[in-house]
Amino acid sequence: MNRIKILSPATVANLACGFDVIGLALDIPVDEILLYKSNSPGIRINRIDGTTLPKDQKKNVAFVSLQALLKKYQQRFYKEKKIGFEIELIKNIHPGSGIGSSAASAAGVVYGANILLGNPFNRMQLIRFAMEGERIASGSAHADNVAPAIMGGVTLVRSYQPLDITKLHSPNELWVSIIHPQIEIKTSDAREILKQKILMTDAIRQWGNIGALVAGLYQENYELISRSLEDFIVEPIRAMLIPAFYELKIRCKEIGALGGGISGSGPSVFMLSKGNDIAKKVTEVMNLVYSPLKVDYKTYTSPINQKGVKFSEIL
Ligand code: HSE
Repeated sequence: MNRIKILSPATVANLACGFDVIGLALDIPVDEILLYKSNSPGIRINRIDGTTLPKDQKKNVAFVSLQALLKKYQQRFYKEKKIGFEIELIKNIHPGSGIGSSAASAAGVVYGANILLGNPFNRMQLIRFAMEGERIASGSAHADNVAPAIMGGVTLVRSYQPLDITKLHSPNELWVSIIHPQIEIKTSDAREILKQKILMTDAIRQWGNIGALVAGLYQENYELISRSLEDFIVEPIRAMLIPAFYELKIRCKEIGALGGGISGSGPSVFMLSKGNDIAKKVTEVMNLVYSPLKVDYKTYTSPINQKGVKFSEIL
């Protein structure tokens, strides 16, 4: 088996209160990644469909993540120097969308390469390699997109040093509505505007919400989930980057959404709902709020993807 296709999911990071620590995987949209193992050393990106990504391979997330994996592989199995990979990326998740485009590329290539190499690495190691891609993409090796992309479901980063990530329980009936305004916000820019120090009063409210969100997920207590989806630290600063952000939130909650916020670093906005029916109505309201604006947008309604990145077929 030398040529395979991988499907790598979009993800929602932060989930309002959990900046840089909580994220979830979506069923749609997904990137398709075609990966070929060859005997000619090096990593080559032969095709990128759906967007333009850095031609300079050292700045390409897929390249950097796979390079990190290959380096570790060759250190460990030093005889196998004659290994190379060719990558084709079919990007359905737009870069700068806030739904984990770079994470999908990174997760997809490392997951696929691991299969082609006979699964020498576990999922936590794959997350580490994929985080190197995130470092290139956003200037920070955060894991709240790559962890759910690789592990599926809702994940929590307890600690970055040492890396300690756990998959949380999430109710089957939890659905996600997403609106992606077609404006690009670079994660690095959206991180630069954040304050480096926060008030103790805000921190207390924030960690109360994170704890309660986790409890709400385990208890399948939708009211507790709803009350926990508040962000006192990041959202007040980033909201100004997103057209009609507060109107979206208010109108979606009026129709029955549990709550939501900025997806990752934006501009996408997510809302959680109990059940597909309400989630579809929420997505419809997102359409209604955005249709009068002079901003193109896309919407998605998705359950939580419990599997994450997956093998699709041998080519
Ligand atoms: N936690 C990161 C941020 C996610 O909000 O900057 C970026 O997708």
